[in-house]
Amino acid sequence: MERPFQSTDFDVQNWREQIKSGVTFTLLNGQQLIVRSIQQHDIGPAYLIEKASFKDAWPKIAFQLEVDDPQYRISLVGYIGDRLVTYILCYHIIDEMHINNIAVANEFRQQGIASTIFWLLTEIGNYCGVHVSHLEVRRSNLAAIALYEKCGYRVVGSRKKYYESDNEDALTMSRYHT
Ligand SMILES: CC(C)(COP(=O)(O)OP(=O)(O)OC[C@H]1O[C@@H](n2cnc3c(N)ncnc32)[C@H](O)[C@@H]1OP(=O)(O)O)[C@@H](O)C(=O)NCCC(=O)NCCS
Repeated sequence: MERPFQSTDFDVQNWREQIKSGVTFTLLNGQQLIVRSIQQHDIGPAYLIEKASFKDAWPKIAFQLEVDDPQYRISLVGYIGDRLVTYILCYHIIDEMHINNIAVANEFRQQGIASTIFWLLTEIGNYCGVHVSHLEVRRSNLAAIALYEKCGYRVVGSRKKYYESDNEDALTMSRYHT
């Protein structure tokens, strides 16, 4: 995947330590994005983005679980200055990853933040021997589908009436790692 940022200090060989301490990216617009593992104090601001982004927002307890039970999870937040601007919740089990949720704060969208986070996850996945990454997305969510296609995902199927709030179908998308 092409780098959607100018530069980074990320070193995949030390990825576990680095996501604890924070990975710095200089975005194409010159802003610095710091990405690190989700912590207790991130839940409040991440949940505000969740509520603003989805009509069927996850409950706050779902974010709490990411902090309380980190086994198999790679759940990250991104900061610009002191503002939490993005989160991604992801599972990593043996040779598969599943992206459960991602959102970027409205006023920080279309600046390469989500694709930078996906670049990071892809690097980690490749290093850890991940064979395939999966996700589901609303059929109508064209922005997210375009993001995932840009990040190498392809539609592989659908789940009928997957979203209970309005019975919309989900598309299932997968990316095979090299
Ligand atoms: C989907 C979302 C995460 C994208 O985040 P982002 O940081 O704006 O994405 P990026 O800036 O990295 O954009 C990467 C690519 O995604 C696509 N994209 C992003 N926003 C788009 C939009 N509004 N319309 C069409 N394509 C869009 C483009 O292909 C873009 O590449 P380009 O800049 O070369 O055109 C963000 O719009 C969001 O938080 N939406 C609400 C929550 C959501 O729908 N999450 C996905 C749940 S499955």
